[in-house]
Amino acid sequence: MSGLARVLSAARTLHAATPGMQAFSPWKCSTTPEDRPSQPMPALDRVKGFNLPGTVATQPLIDAIRAAADFGHWIQTYTEAEVGRNFLDNYGYYELIGPGGHFRSDQMRGYVAYWGPGLFYDWHNHAAEELYVCLGGQARFLAEGRADVILTPGEALYHSAYQPHAMVTEDQPILTFVLWRGPGLADLPRMQA
Ligand SMILES: [Fe+2]
Repeated sequence: MSGLARVLSAARTLHAATPGMQAFSPWKCSTTPEDRPSQPMPALDRVKGFNLPGTVATQPLIDAIRAAADFGHWIQTYTEAEVGRNFLDNYGYYELIGPGGHFRSDQMRGYVAYWGPGLFYDWHNHAAEELYVCLGGQARFLAEGRADVILTPGEALYHSAYQPHAMVTEDQPILTFVLWRGPGLADLPRMQA
């Protein structure tokens, strides 16, 4: 099994073992890889070296993500003017599943996303509904209409359509798997004006 196929398989196993993920979205995704080239990012070595423990359920996906980090088409949708150089040096994600992902789906989107320690991911929103799953590390999530939440390995957190949200990492990085569903599936998140 190729590197990203192993990530897909581990994500599917986590989905099958996590009722909150199943309730959010059924698993509908091709197992045939798209012709999507790898694309590195500055924090690639941090993902490869991610050594914080997951849970029994999340550790296989952490291990697969680390092993296949070189094959991901890593994306940074924000500019240096929006988030600063330090942020860009310490964050990135790739679309494992979705309209533009390594594995095609028009019903769901699944991102592998990493943020290093000491970052503030500023307020943003998007049309699609979202479920963050913390694989390893932790972060504090802020959202309009809700008390702050510290998300730790194995926990999931929901954002509704256009619900403004932000995230803070303190002394630990966070490695996440993020699901999107609903209208706006193919859009990008937008920073608040
Ligand atoms: Fe989001």
